[in-house]
Amino acid sequence: MTLLKIENLTFSYPQSIQPALKNINLAIKKGSFTGITGPTGAGKSTLAYCLNGIIPHFQGGKLGGQINLRGDSLFTLGTAQISRVVGSVFQDPDAQIISADVEQEVAFGPENLGVPPEEIEQRIAEALYLTGISGLRRRPTTVLSGGQKQRLAIAAALAVLPEILLLDEPTSELDPAGTEEIFQVLKKLNREHGITIIIIEQKTEQLATHADRIVVLNEGAVVMDDHPRQVFSKQQTLEAVGVRIPQVAGLAGMIGVNDRTPLPLTVEQAHRFIERILRR
Ligand SMILES: Nc1ncnc2c1ncn2[C@@H]1O[C@H](COP(=O)(O)OP(=O)(O)OP(=O)(O)O)[C@@H](O)[C@H]1O
Ligand SMILES: [Mg+2]
Repeated sequence: MTLLKIENLTFSYPQSIQPALKNINLAIKKGSFTGITGPTGAGKSTLAYCLNGIIPHFQGGKLGGQINLRGDSLFTLGTAQISRVVGSVFQDPDAQIISADVEQEVAFGPENLGVPPEEIEQRIAEALYLTGISGLRRRPTTVLSGGQKQRLAIAAALAVLPEILLLDEPTSELDPAGTEEIFQVLKKLNREHGITIIIIEQKTEQLATHADRIVVLNEGAVVMDDHPRQVFSKQQTLEAVGVRIPQVAGLAGMIGVNDRTPLPLTVEQAHRFIERILRR
């Protein structure tokens, strides 16, 4: 089922000559895990702002095309209505955490929506459990590590029970271990709880492993939209655009990929790939 349908979406910031988004068409299915990548300035964050209502509600500009959320035009919905469906998590956890302690931070969204106290209590427990930070419930937010803050930002978004979690480079301030932990949380939310994930990410290693679809943006346009294996086999195009190729995929590309040895995306797949070649 299509949850979000983006049709001919175009956006220009005020006073800018070039549009930041040019004729974007994407349909996002319920329960999917979509990775959006592309070089700096490609329009990734601008697209995220269109999906969570920052555009047009807080950022002016020239907007064309349509985004449909189960048949309703997203542009006619208020930010409160959008936030019930699309939960956002951004790059800098310090900029999005507003409460003094973990529990308050998670309660903030549902309180604003007028959810009754008993249910807020349940939602806090559930959101903290799902993000693996139940033990931090009484902690002041200021003492959390970067990875813990990002899990808290995800928990706070989840407490509103959104169908879609939209994340804009949520791991850019995290080390490799912290990055993988966030992806594990997202994978669990997607697989076990059916939450639709849209993640903007430059770390293509993780996208290749976890996403079921990769959209590559360049200069405001969609230049690729396919399964990770298809996208990462077009290595010359990716290099031209400036998208990092996952190391194992890059190595396999140098060795040569064919029908019998499809492109590996993980170390385990690369292991089988090399074994198969050595046997020949
Ligand atoms: N507030 C703004 N006013 C004018 N132009 C803007 C504004 N914000 C972004 N832009 C321009 O719009 C284009 C797309 O920017 P955007 O932030 O969406 O890119 P991005 O793909 O998210 O890049 P990054 O990887 O660096 O986060 C860029 O050319 C950028 O300079
Ligand atoms: Mg950005």
